[in-house]
Amino acid sequence: MAVSPDFEVERLPATFGAVVRDVKLSALSDDAFDAFYACWLDHGLLIVPDQFLTEAEQIAFAQRFGPLEIELGVLTNLLPDGSLRPCDDEADDMVKVFRGNMAWHQDSTYMPVQAKAAVFSAVTVPDGYVTEFADMEAAYDALDPGERRSVDGLSAYHSLVRSQAKVGHVQTAASNYDGYGMDVAEPPLRPLVKCHPETGRKSLSIGRHAFALDEGDEAASEAMLNRLRDVACRAPRTWAHIWSPGDVVIWDNRRLMHRAGPWDMTIPRVMWHSRIAGDPASEGVATV
Ligand SMILES: [Fe+2]
Repeated sequence: MAVSPDFEVERLPATFGAVVRDVKLSALSDDAFDAFYACWLDHGLLIVPDQFLTEAEQIAFAQRFGPLEIELGVLTNLLPDGSLRPCDDEADDMVKVFRGNMAWHQDSTYMPVQAKAAVFSAVTVPDGYVTEFADMEAAYDALDPGERRSVDGLSAYHSLVRSQAKVGHVQTAASNYDGYGMDVAEPPLRPLVKCHPETGRKSLSIGRHAFALDEGDEAASEAMLNRLRDVACRAPRTWAHIWSPGDVVIWDNRRLMHRAGPWDMTIPRVMWHSRIAGDPASEGVATV
């Protein structure tokens, strides 16, 4: 366990991730935040229990990582009147968004600029509810030289329209999903091997939004992408965080994939999600 003057850091038993204790995220000095940020870059995932941030505190904390793509999204199966959203309603696209996010992905790879990071807070969570994370740097490192050669230089198209169609979500004017990401006319083409703009480390850029390589037919592309995902998302490169109310989790979306765990949607879940924007120079896609 590492102890800095500002907080205590306990590594997870995985290739990434740490739990940070003895810290109050809403009251970090600039120097303490710099140390926290360096720790976050090093581990890729920081889990900070017992924070109970207010909405304003969450937004202010997330802004310290950079400009926000999404200031504060409330991810919940509660309707505005407090009643539960019917989880078996085939017309409910929000339920389909929840279901889609149960597959491995990185946020906003279907947008022209992929997200940098996310700050997630647990407000109300079912007992045992998990989010899983997977380390795509360690996954790239684990490839043998021949496999690395086969992925270096390849790119894949990413589309939320495609990934949501797999769970039956076809966006219409009547949808209760606001359509974010469903209106991207040209699916971005992203290299399968991403270079982290701050650490210089290489990682696999795959996940549920990737649907076709820039060479080969679509079925062969999907088979290769699925094989890479299945090999990548194995111990010791994965971690399942079991949420408690008050937890704050910050992940590096340029390094990790994640997926929501399944949960009984008859039990309330309320989580806050702030999405930090990527740098167009490193998370954007080349235009021709
Ligand atoms: Fe996500």
